[in-house]
Amino acid sequence: MSRRRQIYEGKAKILFEGPEPGTLVQYFKDDATAFNNLKKGTIVGKGVLNNRISEHIMTMLGDLSIPTHFIKRLNMREQLIKQVEIIPLEVIVRNVAAGSFSKRMGVEEGTPLPRSIVEFCYKNDELGDPIVGEDVITAMGWINPRELDEVMGMTLRINDVLCGLFAGIGIKLVDFKLEFGRYYTSEDDLQVILADEISPDNCRLWDSKTNEKLDKDRFRRDLGGVAEAYQEIARRLGIFIDPQQVEAQ
Ligand SMILES: Nc1ncnc2c1ncn2[C@@H]1O[C@H](COP(=O)(O)OP(=O)(O)OP(=O)(O)O)[C@@H](O)[C@H]1O
Ligand SMILES: [Mg+2]
Repeated sequence: MSRRRQIYEGKAKILFEGPEPGTLVQYFKDDATAFNNLKKGTIVGKGVLNNRISEHIMTMLGDLSIPTHFIKRLNMREQLIKQVEIIPLEVIVRNVAAGSFSKRMGVEEGTPLPRSIVEFCYKNDELGDPIVGEDVITAMGWINPRELDEVMGMTLRINDVLCGLFAGIGIKLVDFKLEFGRYYTSEDDLQVILADEISPDNCRLWDSKTNEKLDKDRFRRDLGGVAEAYQEIARRLGIFIDPQQVEAQ
């Protein structure tokens, strides 16, 4: 780790300069935060699990021709990614009412939505990531209409793929958050690609039969068994991680 120059330290990950120009190394920490950093903690082994889960999902999306930043996993906690200019939006997809949506709209958690809803939040911790409309995001120049079309198309495809993936392993994909970025290809073209991570840190995943929560809400709501829930997701996805190795890393 210390060999490389650190570019950014976030709440859950650290970005290092990659071996080639235009690449970064994404290091997954065990740190967990919630409620815009008010609640902090550690989930032992989370970084190892999220590295593997995000690798699994991004690889699957790549195989389905959805462009992502993922290049390859380097070790237990690190993956090589394409460096992008992050579009400062959190793209949230909701299939079932939960969390802030339930609060804001007065809809009971667990109510299936008549159709999937896509929301945008402006990525700005000081402002508490406020929800914003399409009009605002294009007017403010955070994304242009062509990019927004691409993001919407990719987001809906990703939702379809992930709903199917999780349904197949007995899990309801309640909601999730995506980040996209602008990638400058070697031909100097600009491409919008999926960035960041897809893991139980930014998805709500409920057991289909029991509705048991298998995601970061266990941490947010002090339900216990947080690491076990992440392990269960990895296990059902067919990812094998030697528990001894997880603890040692
Ligand atoms: N391919 C990429 N290129 C450049 N930056 C990226 C890429 N993928 C993710 N990022 C950014 O790297 C950071 C990852 O760290 P982390 O998720 O810990 O941040 P965070 O604490 O959630 O902060 P933020 O509010 O900036 O997302 C995020 O800022 C994310 O937007
Ligand atoms: Mg983040």
